[in-house]
Amino acid sequence: MGRIQLESVSKKYGKTHALKDVDLDIADGEFLVLLGPSGCGKSTLLRLVAGLIQPSSGRILLDDKDITATPPRNRDLAMVFQSYALYPHLSVAKNIGFPLRSRKFSRTVIANSVAAVASTLDLSELLDRRPAELSGGQRQRVALARAMVRDPGAFLMDEPLSNLDAKLRSATRSELIELHRRIGTTFLYVTHDQVEAMTMATRIALMDNGHIEQIGTPAELYDTPRSTFVAGFLGAPPMNLFDAIVTGCRGELHAVAPGIDIPLGIEADSHSEHPVVAGIRPEKMQIVDTQAHVEAVIATVENLGSEELVHVRAGANPLSIRVPRPSTARAGAPISIRVNPADVHLFDRDSGPRLRWSPEEAPARTGTPLYVA
Ligand SMILES: Nc1ncnc2c1ncn2[C@@H]1O[C@H](COP(=O)(O)OP(=O)(O)OP(=O)(O)O)[C@@H](O)[C@H]1O
Ligand SMILES: [Mg+2]
Repeated sequence: MGRIQLESVSKKYGKTHALKDVDLDIADGEFLVLLGPSGCGKSTLLRLVAGLIQPSSGRILLDDKDITATPPRNRDLAMVFQSYALYPHLSVAKNIGFPLRSRKFSRTVIANSVAAVASTLDLSELLDRRPAELSGGQRQRVALARAMVRDPGAFLMDEPLSNLDAKLRSATRSELIELHRRIGTTFLYVTHDQVEAMTMATRIALMDNGHIEQIGTPAELYDTPRSTFVAGFLGAPPMNLFDAIVTGCRGELHAVAPGIDIPLGIEADSHSEHPVVAGIRPEKMQIVDTQAHVEAVIATVENLGSEELVHVRAGANPLSIRVPRPSTARAGAPISIRVNPADVHLFDRDSGPRLRWSPEEAPARTGTPLYVA
């Protein structure tokens, strides 16, 4: 079992409010990823669950049991941190087997478990070496192996892949996904890498400045970001965001900005104007010859191999467009772009929350055309 709950947890370091009244309920067997910019409180949250630090207020529960005051060694959690602390005088095999030896398992059980996990992480050839004789990536995998060798209630991992090169990182990512699929143990996993978050998580908790801004499946966060912060954080390049006015025109709502006029597919019975931030993902803009919604000028074209990233200006707004390669886009040329109404996200200009979840949903809400979701 491995349900982890945080109830109104806050953590202050002097004047720094690292976590502000956080509620979080992680179901048994979830792969929950804490994602967010540097300093938002990810490691603080993980260290609180591990018991390495104490909350200033609030409670932490493991399988419905209050563990707020339980020492780390009694929490049945396996931890892997960015700075892997291996025992320098012990061989790789002894390092990996350490958690089992300290729990007094038999020699045979330890040897078999170490061999199995070493084979999974491609460490079998290195079992006799000392940590000093390993590369950074190999050491990281030994730290992972040491966490994986026993059967904990949950794994806590703080950027465990950050020291690996791109190829090994991607391979180890697959190993962890496979491991989770096989054993079904709860993972609480910290990263600031959105590719890791999108590919590994059953749910992502996107943090900002000590609070959870949005929690949901990777698709939910990507498709229906609840604020401009979430919209601007996920995606590479992120969602195009620009100031626009939503106004009625010929019985339909339009999002309008210099060089931009996108019909939103929502009936309008008034001409009142709502200032908004509009958002469109780079892959949701199509280059067209006629019937354009955006008239822009191409600034630069980036070749990404399979695709091109076309950077344009519509009025003063910079926009990025992702199109199949090769395209006809050339720097300095005018460009016409079309957008589906369903692909336009609208956010409140002052406070940033999402204004409607989908055009399908909007007609049911009679009266004012825009709602804070
Ligand atoms: N021991 C400490 N003493 C004082 N302030 C701290 C301490 N640990 C963390 N902080 C502060 O708390 C805030 C959250 O830090 P935390 O390490 O949780 O961020 P993070 O999201 O893990 O960032 P990163 O991605 O850079 O690892 C930061 O402002 C940090 O400076
Ligand atoms: Mg951290």
